[in-house]
Amino acid sequence: MLDCFNRNINYLRVSVTDRCNFRCTYCMPAEGVTMISHKDILSFDEIFATVKHGVSQGINKVRITGGEPLVRKGIVNLIEMLGNLDGITDLSMTTNGILLPKYAKQLKAAGLMRVNISLDTLDADKFKTITRIGELSDVLKGIEAAKEAGLSPIKLNCVIKKSHNEPDALAVAEFAKKNNLQVRFIHEMNLEKGDFKVVEGGSGGDCKICNRIRLTANGSLKPCLFSDIDYNIRELGIEQAYELALSKKPKTGHKNKTGNFYNIGG
Ligand code: 5AD
Ligand code: SF4
Repeated sequence: MLDCFNRNINYLRVSVTDRCNFRCTYCMPAEGVTMISHKDILSFDEIFATVKHGVSQGINKVRITGGEPLVRKGIVNLIEMLGNLDGITDLSMTTNGILLPKYAKQLKAAGLMRVNISLDTLDADKFKTITRIGELSDVLKGIEAAKEAGLSPIKLNCVIKKSHNEPDALAVAEFAKKNNLQVRFIHEMNLEKGDFKVVEGGSGGDCKICNRIRLTANGSLKPCLFSDIDYNIRELGIEQAYELALSKKPKTGHKNKTGNFYNIGG
């Protein structure tokens, strides 16, 4: 499907929860986060119907995000529903990885093709500081589990402060090389301030060729990460929400004062 600037939109990112078992400093405040209330969270049937309509309109690439998607109860069932949907040629997930030892095999069997795993540092202390909760060794086990399950390719999402030459980023790059993984460097961004950057090694952040739209866990279709506009599928109906998201997709992003990474999914 083409948007109002003739960009071919074929990529839908689906946030299935705004909850997370980490509290990464650049993503969530330590406390005082208002979570989406249970009644506002889309059911799997609603998510499926929204993805299905997207696929009928030309979406062929779907990424499941969060929050942390693996904390959503029954997530494997959703993957299975989507895995059985004809027309999706790329079904992936972005995860912090710690639940992969539990789920990787089931996810693969359900039809998940590949994962992006967040890894910003290989220093265990720093890892704890960044995530406020996480153990580096758990993520490394998660990466191993993804490999064993045959989820491929595995990409590492490495958030950098300034450059891919800073020590933590270099260490992640080396780790990736040794383990046959790909790495994408994502500049730390502030949605509210509007300082967005292109993802190094990925396709995000380049407005001219942007092919994405997003679905939040409470049903808002968001045409742009760096804009506040959204169209809720429960309020407007799925078809109209898509039509509006496409016809109002901004030429370029500016600021997003209402959303954050944990509830839009990056
Ligand atoms: N800037 C850039 N990327 C972010 N992410 C979360 N918060 C930010 C931010 N402030 C991305 C990271 C992480 C994924 C889950 O979301 O890439 O790996
Ligand atoms: Fe959770 Fe990912 Fe946000 Fe960290 S960056 S708090 S792992 S959603």
